[in-house]
Amino acid sequence: MHIAVVGTGYVGLVSGTCFAEFGMNVTCVDLDKDKIKRLRKGEIPIFEPGLEDLLKKQIKTNRIAFTTDLEDAVKKSDVVFIAVGTPPNSNGDGQADLSYVREAAKQIALAMDGYTVIVTKSTVPVGTAQEIEKVIRDARPNGDFDVASNPEFLREGAAVNDFMRPDRVIIGTSSERARKVLQEIYRPLFLNETPIVFTKRETAEIIKYAANAFLATKITFINEIADLCEMAGGDVQVVAKALGLDGRISPKFLHAGPGYGGSCFPKDTLALAQTGQKFEARQRIVETVVAVNTERRERMAQRIIKACGGSVSGKRIGILGIAFKPNTDDVREAPSLSIIPILQDGGAKIVAYDPAAMEQAKRHLTRIDWKNDPYQVADKADALVIITEWNEFRALDIEKIGALMKEKILVDLRNIYKISEMEDTGFHYVSIGRPDVKPEIVHLKKVSAAS
Ligand code: UDX
Repeated sequence: MHIAVVGTGYVGLVSGTCFAEFGMNVTCVDLDKDKIKRLRKGEIPIFEPGLEDLLKKQIKTNRIAFTTDLEDAVKKSDVVFIAVGTPPNSNGDGQADLSYVREAAKQIALAMDGYTVIVTKSTVPVGTAQEIEKVIRDARPNGDFDVASNPEFLREGAAVNDFMRPDRVIIGTSSERARKVLQEIYRPLFLNETPIVFTKRETAEIIKYAANAFLATKITFINEIADLCEMAGGDVQVVAKALGLDGRISPKFLHAGPGYGGSCFPKDTLALAQTGQKFEARQRIVETVVAVNTERRERMAQRIIKACGGSVSGKRIGILGIAFKPNTDDVREAPSLSIIPILQDGGAKIVAYDPAAMEQAKRHLTRIDWKNDPYQVADKADALVIITEWNEFRALDIEKIGALMKEKILVDLRNIYKISEMEDTGFHYVSIGRPDVKPEIVHLKKVSAAS
């Protein structure tokens, strides 16, 4: 089976490499000549654990090739995956910009030779497969082809594993011929007994948005419960654990924090809300989730300012973690990019460190004193803020950190430290949806317990 993958961004590159691992012959296509040159040498332009090794292995087997020649790649392929970007459009209304998808479809139409299945892997709004079919039919009225939808559910930082061991595969097509071809591609997963959902294209397209919006809703829900815990004296981690013990709810995506970010949830929730309005089927829950998550960044900044006694003016604030989550260098829609400027506007001097995302962050943040490790960040800081839960922040030498800091204030927006382990450290420890630890209160408690 010959496969062409158009677009070597995140989705295209992971999918192409993994299809080669499945035993397919894959050609990945991109307009960017430099990128293609680097990919041929097995160098990947993104930070994704495990991907470079797998790509190098597939290059050696000759099952994967890279080219800028779309026509040649499509001509020799039975299946063409469209994996180009669908960024938010420039109107700012949240709808996905489908111009790259349409352009790819046109070029594929002109190049295809013999029966070809064209598959959308990019996240596209409901109705796009039908639109692509029209674009191709207009260009090739007698063309022998089918258009199918096969959305992906890859998480950054775990994408290879998510592709090789998915919870499910969604294949949207009403054509028996296309179904057989796609079933063959996913044969290794079929043999694995991975659930494969065959459905209509429209249903497949909606599944992708519904899945992301549901997860974003779950996160936003627990974040609001965390707000309630803070005000009423509860502990959100215990609430989340107890909720998760209910098999109908599941414990995943119930970690309270500074709000969701990344290249998918913010974009896809907004796009789903827009699609709902377009089809006169408003998605009011999703609309609210978008608003609450946006507002949350401001709330987080205010929480930091409050922990610093009501003002950060002239204070040195140390930030640990810029990426929207650990194990990625991606800063797209990262809460840090909203929180830091608010602190800077309040007069704070920002010192920061991230294990992988500093280069990316430099494009979006200014006036930051970048450091090489958490201890340099803590040095002379008035407060330390954990925004991303990288593993290397989980076992800091708290005593050493405290000795370096000017004021012992730790704001942990990811709840990576236990309240009990912070109690005797002399830190004012502020986390999410849990009681603050205040050194004087601990001290008073001990005195009254002793008397
Ligand atoms: C997500 C989906 O998980 C994936 O299926 C889809 O294909 C693309 O979007 P990704 O953006 O890589 O993947 O990140 P994910 O791990 O899902 O986290 C998204 C955001 O939610 C991050 O900002 C993360 O910090 C936040 N999050 C996640 C929470 O705040 N709490 C949680 O419990 C889980």
